[in-house]
Amino acid sequence: MLAGGRGTRLRPLTHTSAKQLVPVANRPVLFYGLDAICEAGITDVGIVIGDTGNEVRAAVGDGSRFGLDVTYIPQQAPLGLAHCVLIAKDFLGDDDFIVYLGDNFLIGGISNLLQEFRADGYTAQLLLSKVAEPQLYGVAELGRDGRIIRLQEKPALPRSDLAIVGVYAFSAAIHEAVRAIEPSARGELEITDAVQWLIDQGHRVHSHIVTGYWKDTGRLQDILECNRILLEKVEADLAGVVAGRSEIDGRVVVHPDAVIEDSVLRGPIVIGAGSKVVRSYVGPFTSIADDCVIEDAEIEYSIVLGGSTIQGVPRIEYSLIGRDVEVTRAVHAPNAHRLMVGDHSKVQLRI
Ligand code: TTP
Repeated sequence: MLAGGRGTRLRPLTHTSAKQLVPVANRPVLFYGLDAICEAGITDVGIVIGDTGNEVRAAVGDGSRFGLDVTYIPQQAPLGLAHCVLIAKDFLGDDDFIVYLGDNFLIGGISNLLQEFRADGYTAQLLLSKVAEPQLYGVAELGRDGRIIRLQEKPALPRSDLAIVGVYAFSAAIHEAVRAIEPSARGELEITDAVQWLIDQGHRVHSHIVTGYWKDTGRLQDILECNRILLEKVEADLAGVVAGRSEIDGRVVVHPDAVIEDSVLRGPIVIGAGSKVVRSYVGPFTSIADDCVIEDAEIEYSIVLGGSTIQGVPRIEYSLIGRDVEVTRAVHAPNAHRLMVGDHSKVQLRI
């Protein structure tokens, strides 16, 4: 499970936090991957960690909560996906294994892939998904019977519309491949180069097409979409306190320790422990994590991380708000915006 990396596309959140721990429907994206691994019957998991390793360790622990036995594998710098395989050699030994990108979100799990991989004895098998813009991804060209004959990394002229999804099954032959390749132009040991090396050496490298939903949650719009997909499936659970003249529509999940007062909630929504929503509107596809305050505000299609306050602000939408953030109304003249915004933040003001 790869949980290091730079996460440049998700700055400023990734200046301080692991992108694999950004919550969707109030649960870190990494946890859904760990569930999928456990469901597939795998118990030994090595998690590659980088600068944000301590946070990942704190969130996942020894893995017993997921039914897994977790070993942490520190990577001194994000030197590429194939570099992750290289440094995991001692942990992996000569076993077959899965590489799962910790920021990838997949509905439907990996059991089918694993079954096929085991039954057919391929050297490597890659999950692929049809995408609208293959030039943004690693792309696979297939031969007869689903064999992969060529990989291209973000090609200007893609030879297919099948993108490489962030899950790979490998046999021990990949270790020779990751040792044989050179770093790419961007200075990383690329997993696509290692797999291409296997193909060139005549190994059997096969595809497995994903039919369910898949998303690489590397960018804001992808995280918000994943949040929507997950919230579409939640069951209503109004366990918290709903007081005053509140109006609740649709599937709304309110943690037993959360309080809703004089507010309008239109699901699907999840609201975490210790959070308060007062005289506010919370609209569809919004996840509010623990210990947040939403007061005299309106918010929709957004994710708010723990400990944040939104006060006196109509209306926020399509937003990802980090931890312990304050978004409040400026009450004194001049009639102006006051901002203290971290590096690489994005603020869009509708004025
Ligand atoms: P990417 O999303 O390809 O890389 P990144 O995290 O550097 O992101 P960005 O492009 O926004 O800068 O990485 C896929 C997954 O693999 C992600 O969970 C991070 C992880 N990873 C590592 O653990 N080590 C690495 O050397 C690299 C490149 C990625």
